[in-house]
Parts: sequence; C-alpha cells; structure tokens
Amino acid sequence: MDKLYSFGAARENRTLMGKAHTALNRACLPISAWPLLMRQNKVMTFLFQVDKFFIMDVSADIKKVTDPIYRKISKTVPEIEWAIHAPYIYKINKLKKEKNAVILAHNYQTPEIYHGISDFSADSLALAVEASKTKADIIVMCGVHFMAETAKLMSPEKKVLLPDMNAGCSLSSSITGNDVRNLKKKYPGVPVVSYVNTSAEVKAETDVCCTSANAVKIVESLGVKKVIFLPDDFLAKYVASQTDVEIISWKGTCEVHEQFNDEEINEIRKNNPGIKIIAHPECPPDVIKASDFAGSTSGMIKYVKDNQPEKVMMVTECSMSDNVQIDNPKVEFIRPCNLCPHMKRITLPKILECLENETNEILMSDEVIEKAKKSVKRMAEIGR
Ligand code: 13P
Ligand code: SF4
Repeated sequence: MDKLYSFGAARENRTLMGKAHTALNRACLPISAWPLLMRQNKVMTFLFQVDKFFIMDVSADIKKVTDPIYRKISKTVPEIEWAIHAPYIYKINKLKKEKNAVILAHNYQTPEIYHGISDFSADSLALAVEASKTKADIIVMCGVHFMAETAKLMSPEKKVLLPDMNAGCSLSSSITGNDVRNLKKKYPGVPVVSYVNTSAEVKAETDVCCTSANAVKIVESLGVKKVIFLPDDFLAKYVASQTDVEIISWKGTCEVHEQFNDEEINEIRKNNPGIKIIAHPECPPDVIKASDFAGSTSGMIKYVKDNQPEKVMMVTECSMSDNVQIDNPKVEFIRPCNLCPHMKRITLPKILECLENETNEILMSDEVIEKAKKSVKRMAEIGR
C-alpha cells in the first residue's frame, strides 16, 4: 500500500508523544516550549483533528486530487500529518465549489490551509480588499475575528463565516468603543486612525482604519499635525519614527510580537553571518531597529521573493516561515518564532464543519455596519 495512505499502520503508531512530536515539530518549537504549548491546548486540538480524521472515508479519488498539493508542501508537512489533512482538503475544496464559497486565508494560517484550500492568502489589507471584490456568495475567513468582521464590513450583503468564533486578537481586545469615545473627548477635533486589528464597535468610532502595510501613508493622508493612533503602541512608535505627525497612542500590544527582543536578534545575527532579519512592525522598537526590514506580512513575503537572501529570519508568527519556505525553496529560514494562539484555532475540521452547516456567521447591527464600514472603505480607497 502507498505509504501516504497506510492509515492502519498510522493508527497503531499514534501514541500521545508521537502525535505531540509531529505537531510540535511542525511548529518548530524547542522542547522547552512543550509544556506551555500543552497547557494552551494546542496538542489537544491536533489530537482532535487526528481522531476526527479516522472516521472519514479515504478513496483513490482523494489521493488523485490532493497528491499535487502534497508534492508542493511535502518538505514542510510530514506524510503522517498529510494523511490526516488530505480527506479534509478534498472535501472542503469540493464543497466550496458547490456552494460558490471563497476561502480567504491570512498569511499566518498553517500550510495545509494556506496551500491546500485557500483561494486567496494575504495580509489583512489585501484580505479586506479581496472581500469587497469577490463574486462568491459565502466568504470563509481563515484568520481571526476582526478579519472576518472587516470582510463583512467590506461586503455586508455576503455571508461571512469564521471557523472558530473564539479566534480573537490581543490588540483588538485591548480597546472598546467607549475607550475611543473618551479619547475623543480628551482630544477634541483630533482624528482617530485605528489599526484594522480592532472590533467593529471601535471602527465605528474611527475616522480611518489602517494596517501595518499602509499606516504611515494613512496618517499622512489626513494632512493634520496630530492623530490618535489605536490600539498598538509599538506600531504607533514605528509610525512616529517615520513621520512628523504627532502620534497619540494606546497601550495595546500583540501578545505574539511583544515576546521578541533585540538580544535574541543580535545573537542570531552573530551566529549567522550575512543573514537578513525582517520584522513585523508590531514588534518592540528595539527589535525593529535591530532588523534589516520592517513590513506587513505580505511586505515580508515580497522582501524574500524579491531579494532571495541566502538565509533569512522572519520575526513574526511561526507559520509564515513554513508558508514562505514552500514558495522559496532556495532560501534557508532560521526560525525562532512565536505561535499566535488565535490564528491556530482555525483547523481543517472546523473549516469543513462551518462551511458544511454554514455556522459561525458574522452578524452585526445595520447601525454598526453603517458607521464602521466608512472607516474601512476609506482605508481601502487610500490603498497601500
Ligand atoms: P498583517 O496586516 O501584516 O497581515 O498583520 C496582521 C496581524 O495580525 C499581524 O499580527
Ligand atoms: Fe492579533 Fe498578534 Fe495574533 Fe496578529 S499575531 S492576530 S496581532 S494576537
């Protein structure tokens, strides 16, 4: 029997540590990180996937359809893991055609989602723009809650589904609509620029949204001396370093990027002569300073594609290196990275379930949609 589809043997071998090892290996985490990851239920999510898989049918048709995808990602995804993913990938791709659904995936999604089922994968700005252009009836957002809400604001007439409603974001949860109203009282007349990593309620109080791809451009487009910039304090500091506009910031941080520090970056540079280090602007200012380039997730991907460095470190979420390595096989990736627990809530079984039953629909009142969509559309008009 083909090795990839020898499920009987795989079933016998799925000891707890074996399964945990595969999952952790993929996440490129040191052994010291295992207990933390276990606590965060990441391994349990993976085991759940394994268990769900064993009740699915496998056929030659699945193999025929999914083999070309596997050939592309085989250096990154182990065979035993692919055996679990393949039936889901087959079913989801079939179902999305039947339902005229589109799957939008953020760059932090795992390779089986990013390369296996997504119709469009990108940074948060491009996902928002794509959501406004799609002709599909259903949008499945493989990303976090604010991304699905943003898609709904761009296309209110569409059904937008999020495979796990608990996929949040530490930046988005750092600020409420009421906080923004209070800031506006404190700084009357000062325009509010909000990162898209915010709730629709915050966007409804915002003049114009931005992403890490266009934050400086958006701030400068207002033609004012001072702006309120929410909620990422590190992104605010990055913007302030690139413009003369005075920035009033909020104390939000990304729980993933705030963990990086310049000492570790400098150590990696010392041990890897010639390496290019590229960072997301949600990182602390010292990390950005120690890096060769800062940009949105798509900006970082473009950097690797255009420059083809011999060695690179992407100072960001772990799946980025996995996904970009697949498209840039000659580049060596040095991978200290941090997992986003929210992005990792999105799995193939959850995507299948939500698409099959059309559950987890993003719903907002007409009033919030009306108010919040203006700030998102204004951002999209200004562009990158
Ligand atoms: P991008 O807009 O760069 O894709 O970033 C979104 C995000 O949440 C990064 O943590
Ligand atoms: Fe939010 Fe950070 Fe996760 Fe991006 S990586 S979704 S900013 S918690």
